[in-house]
Amino acid sequence: MIKQSTITEIFESSKIEDVVGDFVNLKKRGVNLLGLCPFHGEKTPSFTVSPAKNIYKCFGCGVGGNPVNFIMEHEGLTYPEALRYLAKKYNIAIEESETTDEQRQEKQLYDSLYLVNDFAQKYYEQQLFETERGKKIALSYFKERGFREETIRKFGLGYAPEKGNTFTLYAVNKGYKQDTLQKAGLTTSRGRDFFRDRVQFTIHNLTGKVVGFGGRILVKNVKAPKYLNTPESEIYNKSKILYGAYFAKRAIRSQDECIMVEGYTDVLSLHQSGIENVVASSGTSLTVDQIRLVKRYTPNIKIIYDGDPAGVKAALRGLDLVLEQDMNVRVVLLPQGEDPDSYLQKVGATAFREFIDKNASDFILFKTNLLLDEAKGDPIKKANLIKDIVGSIAKIPDPLKRSVYIRECANRLEIGEDVLVQTTNKLKMEHIRKQQKQEERDRRQAQRNRTTTPPDESWPDAPPSDFPSEIPPDLEHGFPSDEPDDSSFPPTRETRSAPPAVDASSKVIVGDEFQEKDIVRLLMSFGEEEMEEGISVAQYILINVEEVLEAFDHSFYKKIVQDCLEMLKAKTPITQKHFLQSPDQEVSKLAATLLTTPYEYSKNWEEKLMNPLQTQPMPEKNYKKDTVIAVNRIKLRKVNKLLNENQSKIKALQEQGGDAMDMIKQIKVQQKLLQIREEIANLLGTRGAIK
Ligand code: UTP
Ligand code: MN
Repeated sequence: MIKQSTITEIFESSKIEDVVGDFVNLKKRGVNLLGLCPFHGEKTPSFTVSPAKNIYKCFGCGVGGNPVNFIMEHEGLTYPEALRYLAKKYNIAIEESETTDEQRQEKQLYDSLYLVNDFAQKYYEQQLFETERGKKIALSYFKERGFREETIRKFGLGYAPEKGNTFTLYAVNKGYKQDTLQKAGLTTSRGRDFFRDRVQFTIHNLTGKVVGFGGRILVKNVKAPKYLNTPESEIYNKSKILYGAYFAKRAIRSQDECIMVEGYTDVLSLHQSGIENVVASSGTSLTVDQIRLVKRYTPNIKIIYDGDPAGVKAALRGLDLVLEQDMNVRVVLLPQGEDPDSYLQKVGATAFREFIDKNASDFILFKTNLLLDEAKGDPIKKANLIKDIVGSIAKIPDPLKRSVYIRECANRLEIGEDVLVQTTNKLKMEHIRKQQKQEERDRRQAQRNRTTTPPDESWPDAPPSDFPSEIPPDLEHGFPSDEPDDSSFPPTRETRSAPPAVDASSKVIVGDEFQEKDIVRLLMSFGEEEMEEGISVAQYILINVEEVLEAFDHSFYKKIVQDCLEMLKAKTPITQKHFLQSPDQEVSKLAATLLTTPYEYSKNWEEKLMNPLQTQPMPEKNYKKDTVIAVNRIKLRKVNKLLNENQSKIKALQEQGGDAMDMIKQIKVQQKLLQIREEIANLLGTRGAIK
C-alpha cells in the first residue's frame, strides 16, 4: 500500500502539462494549452490542458481528468501503477505503509495489557471456583442471585481475594511486570491489589478480549463504593465500551435491535433468560462512541430504565446525542424500584418480554409526555419544555422523521406546527454555526499544540480503539450490515455507461439528470464558498437536498451527494481538490469535466422561466443565485415526482377499494406534498402554475 502522504506528494508534484506533454504536442492558447486529442482521431485540436486547474479536457470526445487519470487512460495502467509511474517521473520515493518503531512499541504495550488482563481473569475465575473463600462467599452469592454456572463461566465472572497484594505477588511471580500490572489498573501505585474481596465482572471488548473488570462489594459496607471499575487504560476506555457487547452482537444483528440496560447484573439476567441482544452502559450516561458501536449492528435501540423517575429525567436530557446519530430510540420505564434484573426474577421471562414490548414508547414522545405532565398549568415551564423538545427534534438528521415529530409534538403541545418548524430550523442553523466555531477553536488549539509539544510526545494517530480494526474476519462474517450497502458505488462500467449521458457523445437525458448533475457541479465547484454567514454552499445544498435524495434518478450523482453528506458529518471540507484527486476515477474525471465545461442551461421550460433571474455568463460570480435556484428546482421536480407517484397510489387504492386508513394516509401525504410544492414555487416566483 502506498502511503497517503506519498500519494499526496505525487498529486502535488505532477504537472498536467508535463505529463500530457510527454505524449501530446501542446501549444499555448491563452492560459491553457491545446493539442490533438490522443483519445480520438481529430484534425483540429480540441484537447485542452489547464495548468491552473491541473486537469485536461477534450471538448471533442469529452474525456477529462487529472494527471493520474491521464496516465491510467493513456498507458492503460491501474491506479497504483499510474501513481508509481508518476513517482518515478518526479523522483518521489514511494513510502509503503508499514509499521514504525513507535507503532510496534505501542502494539507491544497493548499486547502486554491484553495478556495481563487475560491472566487476571483466569486468576479471578480460579479463585471463585477453586478456593474455599471464593466458593463460600462469592460463588454462593452469584448462585443466590440466580446465576447459573454456565452463565458465570461464559461471562468470566470471578472473585478477587481479600488480602492486600495476593494477586499482584502471584502475577509478579509468574513473570508479569509490576509496571504492566499498574498500567492495566490491576495493581495500585503502591503495589497493592486494586480489587480486594469483590466479585468480579469481566469486561470484554467487541473482539472478546478482556480489557477490564467491575468489582462488586460483598459486605454491606456503606463507605466503599458498591462497584469499583478498572481505571481508564490504553485498552480500556469506558466511554467506548458497552458491557456485554461481545456476547450480544450476533443477537443484536439478527433481531435488529439492541436492548440497553444500566447494570452488569441486568445483562447477565436477561442473557441467561434468553434475551441476548442486551448491553449495559454501566451506570454512566451514554456516549456517542457507545451509540456508534451499537449502530454498527442496528439502528434500533430500546433503553430500559430502572424504575426511578427522577433518574430517568436526568438520563433523558443526555439522550439527544442518540438522536444525532439517527437511531430509532424507544424507552421503557420499569415499575418503581425495579431494575431489569430484579423485575425479571420477579415476573419471569415471558411477562418481562411482554412488559417491555407493551411499554416501549418513542423517545421524543415519551419525553414530551413526561415533561408535559410536569409543566401542567405553568406557562414558563411549558415554554422551557418546548425549547427542550425542539432542541431534541433539531438533532434528528433525517428530515422526514423530523417532520413527523414536529407534527406529533405540535399536536401534544398544542402549538402551531409552523412555530415548531421555524424554531427547529433556527436551532439547526445555530447548531451548525456553533459546530463550526468549535472546529475553528479546535483547529487553532491543534496548531498551538503542534508548535509547543515535542514531536515524540504526541502520537501520530489516535491509539487504536478497542473494537474496530482487529475483529478477526471469521467473526465478522454473517454480519451483513458491515458490508457496503447495495447501492452500487463505484458503479460498474455496465451500470455507469448506460444512464449518465454526461457528455456530447450521447444526448439522451434520463429523468432529472440535468438537475442532479447541476447539484453535483455546484458542490464540486463552489462547495467551499460561503453561501450566507457561516454556511457554506455545500452545507446549504446538502441540508436542502437531503430531503429529496432518495428520489434521485442517477445512482452515480446520488452517491456523490451521499458521500458529500458523509463528509459534512465527518467535517471533512468539500473542496475542488477532493473531487479532482479522488481515487475513484469516475469521480475525478467528472470533476475535471464539470470544472471546465462552460455552464449550460437546459432548454426546459423551467429554465426559460427562470432565465430572467440569471445574469450569466460568468457562473463563478453567480454561484449563490445558481445554488438557490438549483436547490429549489430539484426539490420542486422531486416533489412533483413524489406527487405523481402518490397520485397513482391513491388511484390504485380507489380502484381496489383498499383500506380506508391507508387512503387517509396517502391523502395526507398528498396534501403535505402540495403544500411543499406551493412553498417552493413561491420561492421560485413561479407560483403553483407548474405541473
Ligand atoms: P446499580 O446500582 O443498579 O447496580 O448500578 P446493579 O448492576 O443493578 O447491581 P446489583 O444488582 O445492585 O448488584 C448500575 C451500574 O452502575 C455502575 C455499575 O456498572 C452498575 O452495574 N456502578 C454502580 C458503578 O460503576 N459504581 C457504583 O458504585 C454503582
Ligand atoms: Mn441495578
